[in-house]
Amino acid sequence: MIREEWLNRLFKRLTHLIIGAISLSVVSGLLMIYLILNPSLSLVGSNLQKGKDPKTTIDPDRIENGIHVRTGLVEGKGLMAVVNNCTNCHSAKLVIQNRMNREKWNSTIQWMQETQNLWDLGKNHEVIVNYLVTYYPPQSKKRREGLKEIEWYVLED
Ligand code: HEC
Repeated sequence: MIREEWLNRLFKRLTHLIIGAISLSVVSGLLMIYLILNPSLSLVGSNLQKGKDPKTTIDPDRIENGIHVRTGLVEGKGLMAVVNNCTNCHSAKLVIQNRMNREKWNSTIQWMQETQNLWDLGKNHEVIVNYLVTYYPPQSKKRREGLKEIEWYVLED
């Protein structure tokens, strides 16, 4: 009887031990999977991240063929002042599709300052207007002239 009780106890202990070992390996297995999926947490992974190829990270201010890719504005002196001050409320397209002389650009900016909460541009005001007048002046090409010396012909049905 006593011997049986002793065996019983031994058996219980063994099962506890086995359950403990199994749960330990399950937990560490899950931890391993987690680290594989989230390499930023592990040492090896963070090194991999540091070694990122700079060519694959996209520069938000990259210029291609003289155009600031993100906004479509022409590259030139004062570009970043325009990007930083003129593309917050509306698309840069609104700037690009307008062509004005100095006076009109100034009054457009003043209009936005008075009615649209555009901030005081400070020293950038001059830089921005210079940029706009240089790259977005009034369109020099007018509407083409009317056609001359055309031989009209009658359409037949
Ligand atoms: C605080 C917000 C804000 C900022 C910043 C801003 N604008 Fe505007 N702008 C507006 C609003 C609002 C309109 C009117 C939009 C509309 O009609 O849909 C507008 C309209 C315009 C127009 C069209 C005007 C017209 O007569 O149709 C131009 C051009 C323009 N902005 C240029 C600029 C330039 C250049 C800058 C940088 C100096 C700038 N905006 C910065 C708010 C802003």
